[in-house]
Amino acid sequence: MINDQLTEKVKSTFLKQFETEPLLSFSPGRINLIGEHTDYNDGFVFPAAINKGIVSGVQKSNNDYCSVYAIDIDEVLEFSLSNIQPIENGGWKNYVLGVVTEILKKDKIIHNFDMVFAGNIPLGAGLSSSAALENSIVFGLNELFELGLTKEEMIYISQKAEHNYVGVQCGIMDQYASMFGKEKKALLLDCRNLKVTYFSIDFKEYDILLLNTNVKHSLAESAYNQRRSVCEAVAKHIEIPALRDATYDQLLTIKEEISQDSYQKALFIIQENERVLKASNALDKGDYTTFGELLFESHKGLQNQYEVSCPELDFLIDQAIKNPDILGARMMGGGFGGCTINIVKKGAADAFINTVAPLYHKQFDKALTRYDVQISKGTHKIK
Ligand code: GLA
Repeated sequence: MINDQLTEKVKSTFLKQFETEPLLSFSPGRINLIGEHTDYNDGFVFPAAINKGIVSGVQKSNNDYCSVYAIDIDEVLEFSLSNIQPIENGGWKNYVLGVVTEILKKDKIIHNFDMVFAGNIPLGAGLSSSAALENSIVFGLNELFELGLTKEEMIYISQKAEHNYVGVQCGIMDQYASMFGKEKKALLLDCRNLKVTYFSIDFKEYDILLLNTNVKHSLAESAYNQRRSVCEAVAKHIEIPALRDATYDQLLTIKEEISQDSYQKALFIIQENERVLKASNALDKGDYTTFGELLFESHKGLQNQYEVSCPELDFLIDQAIKNPDILGARMMGGGFGGCTINIVKKGAADAFINTVAPLYHKQFDKALTRYDVQISKGTHKIK
């Protein structure tokens, strides 16, 4: 198994530091076929868990504090359960503290613990390393202290941790996909009621290719929250619970009362939501051409209407549009950097990368990194 080495690393580090066997679990990152920024509008998304993510090991501790060790960056967090506060610019530490706080808020009893974790998804690549980390913490603690939390409760704990401790008002897509993913299946998820339909993913003579721009925009978090409030304000103006309920007519009726910018953002959400459903229908029928076109359209909307793309992502999509071996491509995740997802003819990926990588490097002075993933199962215990 691909993550065997990662598991071994976590296990041996844990054994060395704490001289006892940890409870090990794996929590994956995710890709998203289509449906970006629709989740916090109560809309539809189409993600899948991947075979890369975070392995964590956890065990009860006899100390009077908790300790968490991030192997990859060689950093330790120590804290007392009776006094938890967010840390300013605390990075990964706030995910841990946030999850523990949200568990305690549910009146669940946990005791001091030691945890070690390591991962193989790059941070800020749009593959949701953050949800993988959050889920691995809540899942590990749920097992260790037999808290009896359901998977749904766990993903909401993860999401709340991100809202309250990290400050990103994220939707539920990442945590859901990471927790509930299945091998070779994408999840058509209704984010209003968490109703899911699993789709077998087999693009026949095409493969999924991820290309990492290696860009992470420092303003991504505030821009994300700002997009969310624009959407909520428009929904309120129309007097509907969320933009998922908006029709084109309703939006047109208020067009003159809101800014052009808000109009475009809301229009994008209505269109993107429709695209998710069209894309899942296309996949059902094996119509990969339509599926691919919807991906390109989604990118154009994210670029020009929702304005969460960046020059590097746009460059890669422009190159993909020109290439007859690529059915569709778009930026993936929150935006402002990270990966593009491309549906590429089998055997054609190398030629595409060999052509594009030098151009990309010339234009942006950055490396273009290929990322190979398989669609895999959600958060689980490693036996
Ligand atoms: C981030 C968030 C998700 C979702 C995507 C955009 O990954 O965590 O909830 O909103 O951005 O689709």
